[in-house]
Amino acid sequence: MDRNRCFDTEVTRNELIGSEEGGQFLLGLKAVGWKTFSPGQFAMIRPGKITLDPVLARPFSIAWANEEEILFFVQKLGRGTRQFAELRPGDAVTGWGPLGSFFARDPSKPTLALAGGIGLAPFMGYARKFGNPDNLELLLGHTQPATNFPLDFFDGLVSKLDTFYQQTREDLNTFIEMLDERISRYADGHVVACGPMPFLKTVGNLATKYGAKAQLSLENKMACGIGACMGCVTTNAKGDHVQVCTRGPVFWATDLDLEA
Ligand SMILES: Cc1cc2nc3c(=O)[nH]c(=O)nc-3n(C[C@H](O)[C@H](O)[C@H](O)COP(=O)(O)OP(=O)(O)OC[C@H]3O[C@@H](n4cnc5c(N)ncnc54)[C@H](O)[C@@H]3O)c2cc1C
Ligand code: FES
Repeated sequence: MDRNRCFDTEVTRNELIGSEEGGQFLLGLKAVGWKTFSPGQFAMIRPGKITLDPVLARPFSIAWANEEEILFFVQKLGRGTRQFAELRPGDAVTGWGPLGSFFARDPSKPTLALAGGIGLAPFMGYARKFGNPDNLELLLGHTQPATNFPLDFFDGLVSKLDTFYQQTREDLNTFIEMLDERISRYADGHVVACGPMPFLKTVGNLATKYGAKAQLSLENKMACGIGACMGCVTTNAKGDHVQVCTRGPVFWATDLDLEA
């Protein structure tokens, strides 16, 4: 597997998904010779034109990659992602990757993929590589309209795709009940999740409740992506601080201290 390779490339496409206000877009980059990647891995990227604001590259899950293109699904949030939103085909991008750990895939095992918002990104590649749609179900919880997500990417790749639009605080309880019910059915299966930390904590705790094997992908802030700066650490189940970029971002839930 390719690991940790620096690259200079260019934008192939920048495709807004849904509304302008949602600020969610597919960013395609010209392939850089990766032989393969495993869904859950990420790359650190930054616009090729170096500026001091921001100076650091940003981490993004590899949504898909083939011999032509590397694809990211990005949400515009702050300074870095605003710059990516403005990139157009032909603009230079520099980066390094593929980086980090990845989700296990066993097409013979019933698998539940749980995405919180932009946490959908790694499951685009996961669903495409899984190899048995009958055994893969996806649930997306989102606070933006479902039309702001590239759900057509999953056509024919999953047996079931449910979305839950969380618009009020009360909806959160309904979503947690929904997660509880879904995870209870996967006690002998595999649960994979990516999204904000409170969502991952809920998934991890429910997986423990039902004895389901679960992997969680953390989205800690990162500066280097290669284990050097210690900016991304989390606490593991032994109480040690570990780098999310090199020991993760995908961890077995039982290996983490989710309450730290
Ligand atoms: C392994 C990994 C994979 C990721 N995959 C994706 C992806 O596929 N698509 C995507 O859109 N984003 C992804 N992210 C999150 C993405 O890296 C951040 O949203 C981005 O770095 C924000 O940069 P910014 O300069 O726009 O925001 P900043 O100006 O740095 O911050 C703007 C706001 O966003 C918050 N923020 C910054 N970084 C994060 C973060 N990591 N998680 C949550 N909030 C953050 C800040 O606290 C602040 O409120 C991933 C993060 C990691 C660690
Ligand atoms: S981002 Fe630098 S150690 Fe993880």
